[in-house]
Amino acid sequence: MIKFFQSWLDKKKSPSTVQETSDIIPKHVAIIMDGNGRWARKLGLPRVVGHRNGMMAIKRVTIAADEMGISILTLYAFSTENWKRPKDEVDYLMSLPQEFLALELEELIQKNVQVRMMGHTEGVPSSTLEALREAIVKTKNNTGLILNFAFNYGGRHEIVESVKKVAALVQSGEMSIDDITEDTIQSHLISNDLPDPDLLIRTGKELRLSNFMLWQTAYSELWFTDIYWPAFKEEHLREAVASYGQRTRRYGGLS
Ligand code: FPP
Repeated sequence: MIKFFQSWLDKKKSPSTVQETSDIIPKHVAIIMDGNGRWARKLGLPRVVGHRNGMMAIKRVTIAADEMGISILTLYAFSTENWKRPKDEVDYLMSLPQEFLALELEELIQKNVQVRMMGHTEGVPSSTLEALREAIVKTKNNTGLILNFAFNYGGRHEIVESVKKVAALVQSGEMSIDDITEDTIQSHLISNDLPDPDLLIRTGKELRLSNFMLWQTAYSELWFTDIYWPAFKEEHLREAVASYGQRTRRYGGLS
């Protein structure tokens, strides 16, 4: 069975530290950071340079999100499908959390940011997992922005794993089929202690979800931009949040 990072870490769930924010500012923003390769190609640079600049964008967007009063920022940093890329590129992407945290962990600690990861551990180099584990442990009591990396993450797989856990409960007689609700499935997802994203941003022109948080985005507001991720700045985040502030969320009801 695929092992999730949370169980690998064997970390007890800490009580929710999510801060209350106003209605206009989304509490949870999730971002599909796309366009690193095209950004690099436009400048005649190797794709990995796009990924490195994408990593730098993470820092400025994290700071901006924190200053704007966003409580949770989930970033799609590596999907379970990204293993299909050339080995050199995969190796480089696998090294980025370590590099990012070597550069930024101290500042994240100072800024009271809590680092998390959701995804599988299988295939991820131990040095990468150790860097993430260190960041998670060192920041677990921080009460500010939650910076949640979706790393080696796949939305369908997350749902399948949840369903398997529920099926095991039914099989062992601890639960009856009639008792299964949406909450049952939700409570067995790896992100089960975080609220659903209010706002989902995708950079880099494409208009799709790419297997990202399929369960949790059922009622997320969507915002797409042509800007490639390495060029994404605070002003773009503010634009997305301003658009969110104009929306009426009806969750299938009437306003
Ligand atoms: C998609 O762009 C981006 C990724 C597959 C990787 C995203 C990773 C980062 C932004 C940095 C991660 C850093 C840390 C600290 C985890 P693409 O390569 O598919 O771009 P393209 O569609 O233009 O080719």
